Amino acid sequence: MAAAGTDASGLTSKDYYFDSYAHFGIHEEMLKDEVRTISYRDSIYKNKHMFEGKVVLDVGCGTGILSMFAAKSGAKHVYGIDMSNIIHQARKIVSDNGFADKITLIQGKMEEVQLPVDKVDIIISEWMGYFLLYESMLDTVLVARDKYLVEGGMIFPDKATMYIGAIEDGDYKDEKINYWDNVYGFDYSSIKSLAIKEPLVDTVDGASVMSDACPFKEIDILTVTKEDLTFKVPFEITAARDDYVHAFICWFDIGFTKCHKPIYFSTGPGAKYTHWKQTVFYTPETLTVNKGEKIRGTIDCAPNGRNPRDLDIIIDYSFSGEHGSEQHTCDFKMS
Ligand SMILES: C[S@@+](CC[C@H](N)C(=O)[O-])C[C@H]1O[C@@H](n2cnc3c(N)ncnc32)[C@H](O)[C@@H]1O
Repeated sequence: MAAAGTDASGLTSKDYYFDSYAHFGIHEEMLKDEVRTISYRDSIYKNKHMFEGKVVLDVGCGTGILSMFAAKSGAKHVYGIDMSNIIHQARKIVSDNGFADKITLIQGKMEEVQLPVDKVDIIISEWMGYFLLYESMLDTVLVARDKYLVEGGMIFPDKATMYIGAIEDGDYKDEKINYWDNVYGFDYSSIKSLAIKEPLVDTVDGASVMSDACPFKEIDILTVTKEDLTFKVPFEITAARDDYVHAFICWFDIGFTKCHKPIYFSTGPGAKYTHWKQTVFYTPETLTVNKGEKIRGTIDCAPNGRNPRDLDIIIDYSFSGEHGSEQHTCDFKMS
């Protein structure tokens, strides 16, 4: 029986507080995200010729699922690195599945551990956060790439594209933002100004999207630098129908483009559900937009100065249409 204050794995609530990846629950959510996990599995299993005899590094191995995909695909050896206590479970899982001699798991920060080999042929990693870049784990993959990836080596996945579109979302905006105007007869609008600065991670019905999708940032994981992940880029979206705009939404697509047949998955509103959902940025005013009219602007994205895992996002947009003109600079913070 576990001692008071600890669970069956011997971890205390303090461990879980400081180590958000320690509990199996968060890994359960990721493993059950089949769009995610099957895309990785397909990219590895359907490309055995790329993995056979190769040395593979799994950055942030979690429960070891990607390491085992690689080992099963014929990798000579896989090194899985994770700083979380989940690695104790991963060791057991790897051993229970007969891969103890093929997979070496090392607990530590990728930035600090020393691998027993100088170079690896392939890096696999699932590093994506909400709005792609929240949590900044891509920085860790870039450190691993620059230190360990052999010249001409491969990264799975190797491409990411971020998109922006516009949505009609009046009912939900009333529930989440305008709610604070009148709370049981009291003026809570000081909270409204805080709430609107927080992007909302939620599932958006594809039918709410009233514009085209504008790709605003393409990332090549083989060549991108940490500095490239702080950016200010233009966007232009065109209304696909007469409608109102209450918010922008962003999402991303992921590509394993070096596969024999490239494999992609999307976290967009029209695609199958993923645990990344979409990220909604409510606008201060509602726009009344006709089909064919355009909203132009810039998106500015930077790690927060005090906590680099948080993101400061500024959406600056202007619209001029039959039913009015708007120009706004909106600051958002993902934390
Ligand atoms: C999104 S999970 C992916 C887990 C697993 N690869 C999978 O696909 O199910 C990311 C993992 O990376 C680990 N991680 C994040 N930053 C890390 C770092 N700097 N060094 C080592 N591990 C890290 C976390 O502890 C977490 O287990």
